[in-house]
Amino acid sequence: MRPRSWATLQRLFILFFAAAVFLAASRAWALSDDPPQKTGVLLVAFGATMPEANAAYENIEKRFRAEFPDLPMRWAYTSKKVRKILAQSGKSFDSPAEALAGMMDENFTHVAVLSLHVIPGEEYHGLVRTARAFEGLPKGVREVVVTNPLLGGPRDLEAAAAALMSMVPMDRGKDEAVVFMGHGTRHPGNVYYPAMQYYLWRHDRLAFVATVEGSPSLNDVSAELEAAGVKKAHLVPLMTVAGDHARNDMAGNEEDSLKSVLESRGIETAAVLRGAGEYDAVVDIWIGHLKSALDRLGVRR
Ligand code: CO
Repeated sequence: MRPRSWATLQRLFILFFAAAVFLAASRAWALSDDPPQKTGVLLVAFGATMPEANAAYENIEKRFRAEFPDLPMRWAYTSKKVRKILAQSGKSFDSPAEALAGMMDENFTHVAVLSLHVIPGEEYHGLVRTARAFEGLPKGVREVVVTNPLLGGPRDLEAAAAALMSMVPMDRGKDEAVVFMGHGTRHPGNVYYPAMQYYLWRHDRLAFVATVEGSPSLNDVSAELEAAGVKKAHLVPLMTVAGDHARNDMAGNEEDSLKSVLESRGIETAAVLRGAGEYDAVVDIWIGHLKSALDRLGVRR
């Protein structure tokens, strides 16, 4: 090699070395400037206006406080309509954006957002977009992890099938069916309801899924029950809370309720008026979701 290129190589080497020292120093500077990790949990539900529905949220909060006593927790409701109605009676609830802004002010650096929704539909995807927008803002939260809703994948569906069956009354006769009534949506996430049907059938051929606004419809499920020759069905909410939909669309006396549709076809009904959030086996699935979110945020438990 010619002496001249040796000199160039030497200069390059010195330059490279200087750059490496500079980068390491500035990284150390940046780290020392970062506030220490402060992790919080944001529990996010659709929200409910009926006082009876709150039993589910109260149970969920109680279970989370027992499981994670040292983690600060906040609540947010995704439904604007629900927040507005609650505000009229003096109860103020944050939207996810308001809650995250508040947590920014309280110097949280890491937030696990726990979705208490049932399926990844409109409310869930809106929540994910909101959470993303808060990540990495100046003087804001460094990292936000949003968990899957209750039904987030094959493993959740399998666990949910077993957990949902724990909601069925013990005195159910062996020829009696169970109908889990979900909300349903026009959002593509509705497919989780027919998917849930598959996993329930692996447990129990007389367990069915119906939805208020999506598919399977009430007609779909009553045709299934008739085909199975069912004489009696237990109606169980496939919803976090037993609010308006459970009490009216599922178990109400209006002629288009699930109860009335089935009874008009000669099928006797009995309704469970407790939301999925009131059952520990279901809440265990959400607790599992939070545990994996905390692992992703590097929180030692
Ligand atoms: Co609704």
